[in-house]
Amino acid sequence: MAERGREERFWHWPGRSLALEGLEAPPQGHLEPQPQLSIDWEGSQNLYCEGDNLEILKLLVPHFRERIQLIYIDPPYNTGHAFVYNDRSGGGHSAWMGFIYPRLALGWQLLAPGGSLAISIDDRELPYLRLMAEELWGEESLVACFPRLTKKAGKSSAAIARNHDYLLLYAKKPATFYLPPHSDPGFKYRDEYFSERGYYKLNQPLDYNSLQYSPSLDYPLEVEGETLYPGASYAKYLERQAGNYARADWAWRWSKELFNFAYAQGFVVLKRYANRVRLYTKTYQKVKLEKVGGQWQVVPYERTKRLSTLEFLANPYSNDQAKKDLARLMEPALFDYAKPLALMERLCQLTTGPQDWVLDFFAGSAATAQAVWELNARQGARRHFIMVQLPEACAPNSRAYQVGLADICAIGRQRLRLARERLQRENPQPGDYGFQVWRWAEGPAPA
Ligand SMILES: C[S@@+](CC[C@H](N)C(=O)[O-])C[C@H]1O[C@@H](n2cnc3c(N)ncnc32)[C@H](O)[C@@H]1O
Repeated sequence: MAERGREERFWHWPGRSLALEGLEAPPQGHLEPQPQLSIDWEGSQNLYCEGDNLEILKLLVPHFRERIQLIYIDPPYNTGHAFVYNDRSGGGHSAWMGFIYPRLALGWQLLAPGGSLAISIDDRELPYLRLMAEELWGEESLVACFPRLTKKAGKSSAAIARNHDYLLLYAKKPATFYLPPHSDPGFKYRDEYFSERGYYKLNQPLDYNSLQYSPSLDYPLEVEGETLYPGASYAKYLERQAGNYARADWAWRWSKELFNFAYAQGFVVLKRYANRVRLYTKTYQKVKLEKVGGQWQVVPYERTKRLSTLEFLANPYSNDQAKKDLARLMEPALFDYAKPLALMERLCQLTTGPQDWVLDFFAGSAATAQAVWELNARQGARRHFIMVQLPEACAPNSRAYQVGLADICAIGRQRLRLARERLQRENPQPGDYGFQVWRWAEGPAPA
């Protein structure tokens, strides 16, 4: 019976049981310290782990269970291209699923309550990834599926240029997000409530030609010795009252009850023009009107800028920018598949506080680690990172190999060394710009 329940909930794919076995198998190795490859071994809390991420995630779980606030991963897309690293996990979708499934499961174990897990992926594996992720973590864990601009120009040979991929954002409920304050230049007026309510802006007039006329919103108002009607015509008001109104006709935007309260609280402005007077309402930066227990009240309110699902369609998030990021430190040809710093910085900003841990277990050029440092430097914050990367050999004909970077870990460590130098030059305030390198080795840890 239990098995049947499982079958109904789980979507079966070839290799699923093998993936589960891989997940449950105990780790086969341990991590060895590499102080000679590290920077500030004694002082740094950042970790750079070299080895297969399945093994390393298992080794991290006992130390970091539910402690990581943001996991960002950019796994091989299974495109079949000849990458510096091997982007083909054998064959077809199920092989890729078998590869990623146990790693997703372990990643979630490391994620703090309220933490976020973001994944870059293209449209080929997107549906498979979503099914796996939602099976593992529940449908409600999906926060958003953002399209991201990869490059503006496309291949001219194909009929359709592929110019975007996706960023899937999952979160362990209740999700914690940090939204920047809303900076609307419309908030520019001050009144006697400034210290409590901040700046205000004036909204549309209180009366409007509503799309759906409602008699309850059509009533006379006595303000500053004036009697006001929606649409400023007493004659037309009388006609509407007699039942001669259109589907769309003049009314107030607020109920009489709300108006009375808001007027007494200073939320309404009367403006006198040559031939008419008109009412406007105020919106304040730091408070809003809200009905609490049946009573209107002025309540504190933080206006924040929400992230749009279109956020990552801008150039700073494209791979062209990733190349420029790399070019500020090293030859961009050294690593072809880096993500732009802005992407991971924006994610860190959205999902982490100033002391939180960030993990990337498909680290590549360690762009995520640099993004953490850049954001820390800008904010004077102390987020820490864990990078995990397989020491995949660079092909002998690759630029990286030619300049003496034998594997991808060497590329990542080099990037971090150069990023640290530049950050310290441009931003000489203290911070943890070091990292400890640990390397996976087979067998139990020496006693
Ligand atoms: C698309 S790249 C990530 C690029 C990275 N986001 C950046 O901006 O530089 C994927 C990386 O995952 C690494 N990788 C693949 N399989 C891995 C494994 N089993 N364990 C650790 N890393 C792995 C590859 O070597 C490659 O560097």
